[in-house]
Formats: sequence, structure tokens, C-alpha cells
Amino acid sequence: MNERIGTLLKREPSSETLKAEGWVRTKRDSKNVCFLELNDGSTLKGLQVVINKEDLGDQALLDSITTGSSVIVTGTIVASQGSNQAVEMAASALTLVGSCPPETYPLQKKRHSLEYLRDIAHLRARTNTFGAVTRVRNVLSWAIHQYFQERGFIWVHTPIISTSDAEGAGQMFQVTTLDLENVPKTEAGLVDWNEDFFSRQAFLTVSGQLEGETYATALKNIYTFGPTFRAENSNTKRHLSEFWMVEPEMAFCTLEGNMAIAEEFLKYLFSSVLEKCGEDMEFFSTHIEAGMNDTLAKIVESPFVHLTYTDAVKELEKYNDKFDYPVSWGIDLQSEHEKFITEVIAKSPTIVTDYPKDIKAFYMKLNDDEKTVRGMDVLVPRLGEIIGGSERESDLDILVKRMVEMNLDPADYWWYLDLRRFGTVPHAGFGLGFERVVQYVTGMANIRDVIPYPRAPRLADF
Ligand code: 4AD
Ligand code: MG
Repeated sequence: MNERIGTLLKREPSSETLKAEGWVRTKRDSKNVCFLELNDGSTLKGLQVVINKEDLGDQALLDSITTGSSVIVTGTIVASQGSNQAVEMAASALTLVGSCPPETYPLQKKRHSLEYLRDIAHLRARTNTFGAVTRVRNVLSWAIHQYFQERGFIWVHTPIISTSDAEGAGQMFQVTTLDLENVPKTEAGLVDWNEDFFSRQAFLTVSGQLEGETYATALKNIYTFGPTFRAENSNTKRHLSEFWMVEPEMAFCTLEGNMAIAEEFLKYLFSSVLEKCGEDMEFFSTHIEAGMNDTLAKIVESPFVHLTYTDAVKELEKYNDKFDYPVSWGIDLQSEHEKFITEVIAKSPTIVTDYPKDIKAFYMKLNDDEKTVRGMDVLVPRLGEIIGGSERESDLDILVKRMVEMNLDPADYWWYLDLRRFGTVPHAGFGLGFERVVQYVTGMANIRDVIPYPRAPRLADF
């Protein structure tokens, strides 16, 4: 395999003959020389290729090379005359691999809007912005595994097709092979799920947490990292119908330990991108979200603010005239409130805990006040919730009672309840929305621009 452009750009000038392969971003043709900027996605910056026309005077070949063409260049690395780069490639041979007709190629030299690029998502990875997002996303994925692996957490692959609603919120996509034009019915006239592929109703998972808990109560510290699906009709800049979630689960751990890990974990991820994605983060800080680099560096240095839900509501109520949805104890915090907490009240990422039980999932541990639960949301400026988690209810009777209160049938969760029957233990965990963290560190305004092919209500192209 030939060297990537990122590696070639780090070379010193030498007489060694090398090959560069990639896609042409720009071409500047003058009387004696032709300049190509070649990119292969390994770095933001491309390789400048200089073609001396006297040596390589195939004007017809040069004319056929246009923005988007794929080429292979043979040449040497030389010191650049230009001020934009230290080195460039002096070409001794040039091959056009695939031409790219400029009349129909949807990517022009000019800057395109993110909305336009969403319609050509199959080509947008060829732009600076999406190349950078993709590299940052990759570094974050790797850092997630590194963080947990360095600490002895076991990566568990929880199922994608599931028959239980982990959040109890009824927002699942159904998986079926039944002929929808001719649905089999029981004698009572209901759908006969027995005839379906799994002989029962099945869904795409909304979270790997419940299955994750079964492994945490055997292997102590585990994590999942995989796709999750939500059929919620949220057309916002921070919701997807298909997103990736990271869910650590720790046995012998309470809410305090959970908060400490969530904070350390997020800071580890932020530090990793600052350390490994210098060039791309510089790009985001300049073109997407001013000063994002410095913001992240500051966040890594300072402790997150902790607030109970009750205290957060008391603070927010003072500003009720500013909100579309006024705040009072018992309401679910909206994104405008979450942002306000982090941007105005705390001026820092904030962990809000002890939410009213009625607005949180059935599995969260009930506090002694019997009104609030040991849930936590980690909120960040600009985005609001980035992590949701809790200490889990480890008492069998209380958990069953909570399920009934929330109209869930404990019989459906028999295996989950077994964890409380057999060697129950305090345990806790959380879920990090992977796209939310990519969105946060890059400063990209819309979550649809940080995943290759976004799925959202009425949107499943490609
Ligand atoms: O707060 P959520 O719903 O929590 C859970 O699913 C728990 N089972 C996690 C756990 O305790 N193991 O989701 C967790 C995170 C949210 O904080 C958010 O970052 C992200 O997942 N998230 C979404 N991201 C994009 N699009 C959506 N529709 C999302 N819904 C949740
Ligand atoms: Mg949540």
C-alpha cells in the first residue's frame, strides 16, 4: 500500500520516488506549471502536487483532470515554494484513475451549505467538514474503548433485536416478517404474533442497559457500545432515530461513583480529541464553533457543578419569564432549561440528580423521600443532556411496585427481577449518546451532521 497523504506531508524533502493517491480537490493550471491539491481523507490539509509542464507536457491529460477526479501521482517530496505548506510533491508521472465530469459533479470548489450536503450524504465525506467530523468520530470511538479497557471494564455485546422495553417508554421500532397485507389473526381477531418470526413481538433495542446489568452483576464492570433505536417523533437538532450509545454498568457502585466516572470519562474523551485531532479541532474552532478548543481545555481543568433537580428548579423558576415552557417542580426539564443551567446558572457542565420519580424510568433507585429517584443527567452548554444514568433499584419489592405504578408487567421482566432475587447488589450506570459527544466537541449545530447516514422521522435515505 502506498503512503497516505498525511504521512507524506510529514516527510522531509528527499530524492526518494514516492506515490500519492487521492482525489483532486482543486486544480490551478498556468502556462508552465499545473498545481493539484490532492486529498485522501487522512488529513484536513491536502498534498500540493506540482506538475512541470515542460517535463510532463501532456496537456490533454491535464485538461481531463478536474475536481473530484481520482489520480495517482509519482514524484518526490520537495520543500514548498508556497507559504501554505512545508513540503509538496514534484510530479514525475501522473495517472488519471477515474475522471469526474464537472458538469454533473455535485461538489464544486465553493463552500456548500450543510443542508445541501445532507442531500448528497454519499459524497459529503469528501468535504473538509465531513472529513474532519469522521476523523474526530473515529478518535472518540477509540478513546471510549481505551478508557474502559484501561480500567478493566469488559465490553459486552447486548442484543440489537430485543423483546423488552428497556426504558419502559414505548418508543420502539417493531421487527416483524409478517406479511402486512395479510396479517395472521387469532380466533379473537387479534394479530397472531405466534406466527411471527420469533413467535412473539420483537423490537429494535432502545438501550442495552437491562442486558448490561445482567453482565455487571457477574463481571462487575462492563460497558456496551452499539446502535440503539428510538421511534420518538422528535424533529430536533439533537435527536436521531438511530444513534450509538455507550453504556457502562458497575456493580457495588452507587450514584456518587457513577457521577465520578461519568465526569472522568467525559474529560478523558475531550482530552483525547484535543491531543489527537489538533488540526481538525483547529478547523472546528475557526469555522464551526469559535474557540471550541479553549472551551474544552477549560472544561477538562475544572470540576463539574452538581445540583439536585429540586435546587435546579428553584434557580430556574427565577427566570420563568425567559422560557417557552415555565418551570415548576415535577416537570421534565426541556432543552432550553438544560442549556440555561449550564450556560447561565452554573456556567459549566452540570450533573443534575434526584429527579421526580414520575419523569424517570422504572429502574432508578427510589430515594427515602419516595418522591425522587437516584437519577442523574449530565448537561453541557449548547446541547443540554449528553449523559443520562442512575443508581438502579436493587430492592425486589420496591422495583416490582415501581413497575406496576408505571403500567409495566413485572412478568415481562422476570429475568431482570432475578438479579434482585439472586445476590442483589447496589449498582449504577449511565448512557452517553455518542453522536451528542461528537456534536459537542466539534461544535456542529445539527446531530444529523455527525453520523454518516442520519435516520430521523421521515428520513432514511441511502
Ligand atoms: O437518557 P437515556 O434515554 O438513558 C438510557 O437509555 C439509559 N438506559 C442509559 C443508562 O443508564 N444505561 O439515553 C442516554 C443518552 C442521552 O443522555 C442522550 O445523550 C442519548 O442517549 N440519546 C439520544 N441521542 C440521540 N438521539 C436520541 N433520540 C437520543 N435519545 C437519547
Ligand atoms: Mg435521558
